[in-house]
Amino acid sequence: MKFIIDTDPGTDDAVAILIALAHFSDEEILALTTVAGNVNVDVGTRNALRILEHSGRNNIPVYKGEAVPLNRDLLTAEWVHGTDGLNGVGFPDPSKSEEATGAVDYITQLLQKSEEKITICILGPMTNIGKVLDSNPELAKNIEQIIFMGGGAGFGNHTPVAEFNILVDPEAAKIVLNSGVKLVMMGLDVTHQAISTKERLSKILDTGTLTGEHCVALMGSLADLDIVKEKFPDGTPVHDAFVTAYLVDSSLTSGELTNVEVEVDSELTLGQTVVDTNQISGRSKNVYWMNKVDDEKLFNIITKTASLLP
Ligand code: RIB
Ligand code: CA
Repeated sequence: MKFIIDTDPGTDDAVAILIALAHFSDEEILALTTVAGNVNVDVGTRNALRILEHSGRNNIPVYKGEAVPLNRDLLTAEWVHGTDGLNGVGFPDPSKSEEATGAVDYITQLLQKSEEKITICILGPMTNIGKVLDSNPELAKNIEQIIFMGGGAGFGNHTPVAEFNILVDPEAAKIVLNSGVKLVMMGLDVTHQAISTKERLSKILDTGTLTGEHCVALMGSLADLDIVKEKFPDGTPVHDAFVTAYLVDSSLTSGELTNVEVEVDSELTLGQTVVDTNQISGRSKNVYWMNKVDDEKLFNIITKTASLLP
């Protein structure tokens, strides 16, 4: 399997990327592509490089992506992830830079040239992939599947109905949802079911690696937010980890093929993913909407990640 990780690192993005690095080779992880979201794309790009530096995986290239959404001003979440995007967790300075080619051009060329279909993991706003598919809709046939963290059926985390990744760039999400690509949705419906409890964090710390310390610090930093404490007194969700953990073990989650659309016009419900959970819309079943998770399995994968990386 060959895949790319499109990301806005981001504390939970960092955990997701570490999971991939621990379980897949440089031949399988073709690249990290960055996008503006949690933080601006320069900060996110540097963080992608820092995570690779920490892991000793500088052979994996990083391509800097879009700095703003397709049709809107950028909305960021430094209040969650800190101005450095990793809440001050001590990843090293990078010893290399991102590639000269931009992410959209790289992904376009990769899909045009690759002999085998490519899997795309999206951990942030869909701006890069939306732009690729808007300009070259025929490239959808060269994508094996898109596994994305985003959306939710009936509730949001940035507005009452919108999840952050989709809200930042709803137009890009609309392009991806209508692309015809096999889509696997890791929405808030599953990510809120897996909590980084003290017991789980302590198991990760017991691996004795710096990666274990970093994972605990990344998740702990989110748990320390007052707004998180109120809703998740026992720990925090690790949203993006679902995407790469699913690549490791697809039995992590289960769900159903149904229709998912996104609101791009209404001020009140902008960015809402409308999930046809009762299959009554008659619209095409375009998304594998995940709604069940083996949460213990997720944290076992994170613990194994900590034991396998430095
Ligand atoms: O809503 C959670 C998502 O928004 C995660 O991807 C997190 O990293 C932020 O990008
Ligand atoms: Ca993210």
